[in-house]
Amino acid sequence: MSVDAERSSTVTKPTAFVAGATGYTGREVVRLLAQSGVDTIAHIRPNSSRLDEYTPRFESYGAQVDTTPWDENEMCECMSELQPDIVFCLIGTTRARKQAADNPNNNTYHAVDFKLTELLVHACQQAEIQPRFVYISAIGVGPNATTSYMKARWMAERSVVESQLPYTVVRPAFISGPGRGESRPGERVAAAVGDAVLEALGALGAKKLRDRYASMTNTELAEHLVALALSPDAANTVVDAYDLRHRD
Ligand SMILES: NC(=O)c1ccc[n+]([C@@H]2O[C@H](COP(=O)([O-])OP(=O)(O)OC[C@H]3O[C@@H](n4cnc5c(N)ncnc54)[C@H](OP(=O)(O)O)[C@@H]3O)[C@@H](O)[C@H]2O)c1
Repeated sequence: MSVDAERSSTVTKPTAFVAGATGYTGREVVRLLAQSGVDTIAHIRPNSSRLDEYTPRFESYGAQVDTTPWDENEMCECMSELQPDIVFCLIGTTRARKQAADNPNNNTYHAVDFKLTELLVHACQQAEIQPRFVYISAIGVGPNATTSYMKARWMAERSVVESQLPYTVVRPAFISGPGRGESRPGERVAAAVGDAVLEALGALGAKKLRDRYASMTNTELAEHLVALALSPDAANTVVDAYDLRHRD
């Protein structure tokens, strides 16, 4: 065996755990990770309406599917067993999902976007692993958040940043494009109108504004997330869409 062949046979592949794998962004993260040779575990909650559709899809990419319930002890056991090098947290509810849920109180931004992110952070800590924790937040999130969505995202960000885990927090604007498979007319119109205005402002010189607030497709964002997760330089950083669009 040549030295290079021997070296490549001994290099271990990273393992990535993707929470929110069935989401618009998550499904592309799973596909791109598996395609780039990362051992990929797509997490789908056991009661997900998308379990039957997405299990064969992810397996066809070469990913494994894990259905551990969102329970801190069970998730801790799962982290101990899988020992992921990277954990993506790409979950989030919406007002429509909350209204459609059997128990709306379990589907608030606080209960899902914050508490489940915090649960995953605690599971990693209790399993005594140090994966890169990659979290999707949203543009405009900060300590002065006023809406319940922004407050939950800020609390989730704090739980990640203060966890002592290496982290990468990404704050995109709208994530919009083809193939969402879920009707979100308000979001699509706002993204299209916003992009048109930002394009015009960019032509007048406001390029930084345009590059921070213009929408991204799920594939574009997933490409950035995977690259950041695998980049040592992106550890312990909080980046927005401008930073993503201007990475070397
Ligand atoms: N859409 C945007 O324009 C935008 C902009 C900025 C930031 N973000 C944030 O970026 C993240 C990814 O966005 P996206 O549009 O790709 O997400 P998405 O398509 O809405 O997917 C959300 C994911 O969260 C999971 N989820 C929802 N409710 C849950 C619950 N109660 N328990 C466990 N899992 C639950 C879903 O699983 P099931 O399939 O099982 O329901 C799905 O995998 C979200 O956190 C979102 O808030 C979105």
